[in-house]
Amino acid sequence: MIDPASNGTLFMPPQASTVAPEIDALYYFIFYTCLICFVAIMGAGAYFVWKYRYRPGGPKAVPIHHNTPLEIAWSVIPLFILIGMFAWGYKGFLDLAVAPKDAMEIHVVAQRWQWIFEYSNGAKEIGLLRVPSHRPVKLLMTADGDPGGNVIHSFFVPDFRVKSDVLPNRYTSVWFEATREGTHQVFCTEYCGAGHSDMLAKVEVMPQAEFDEWLKKGGDPSEQQQKDVLFMAEKGKEKFQQICFACHAAAPGGAVIGPPLYKKFGTMEMLADGGQVQIDENYMRESILTPNAKIVKGYPSPSPMPPFQGVLKDWQVRALIEYIKTLK
Ligand code: CUA
Repeated sequence: MIDPASNGTLFMPPQASTVAPEIDALYYFIFYTCLICFVAIMGAGAYFVWKYRYRPGGPKAVPIHHNTPLEIAWSVIPLFILIGMFAWGYKGFLDLAVAPKDAMEIHVVAQRWQWIFEYSNGAKEIGLLRVPSHRPVKLLMTADGDPGGNVIHSFFVPDFRVKSDVLPNRYTSVWFEATREGTHQVFCTEYCGAGHSDMLAKVEVMPQAEFDEWLKKGGDPSEQQQKDVLFMAEKGKEKFQQICFACHAAAPGGAVIGPPLYKKFGTMEMLADGGQVQIDENYMRESILTPNAKIVKGYPSPSPMPPFQGVLKDWQVRALIEYIKTLK
């Protein structure tokens, strides 16, 4: 058993939900059963290979027929162990599949490459799921609103031991009751494109009273969220007008030294080397930081654009990208 206050073991992250201890117990049962069987079988095999090795002048091999009691024993004993594993696992599976009736429901929308959490009062948060501690929470999840087309994701919180695929055109759900206040990591565990490994979020487990307070204030933060996104693009626009506009057009009639950047996001770009590239955040980032990485067809190579690696801060790059994304 793991000390509830610990930071986990060699095999497992901390246990931070009510189901975690049972899942870990089953895991360790299966692991040690397999380990003991492996050592016993391999050890016996190695010993017999050595003991009955060929020796010149040794006893002649005699054919051996079956040994009924032995064969029944090595079939029936593992059968019971496996039935035990199945029954234990099935019970755990049902516990995980059926949320308690009083569970608080939160909607989860997965997009390339972010997690959006929506509460029943309209509160909305990107990349941060706030939940009260010691209260069952059910997540109703779907993949939706992805401009590039919806794909399959998977929602995984190792500390809670919950994981479920998140599919377009369908709801899936997980439930948990968090037992440890603080921050827990969310991963996407279904490959969903270039930004898959960056598709992270946090779960913030708060005392119920603090959570209620936040939820009330978060009454309609969807507007705030909208503002935040625009805030980012607004900052990007300032930067763009300082450094980019001399060479790149943000609208028809702009500068033509570099490729125009309006109506570009999400489209395919032809490259000088004959290849093609999808214009996404990563491509834009690469082109801003290291302009020579990919030269657009019809433009000079090497690129006359200075590399902005080490010049722009990370959030400035993201702000610029957000701005370029608004150039429709
Ligand atoms: Cu979303 Cu991987």
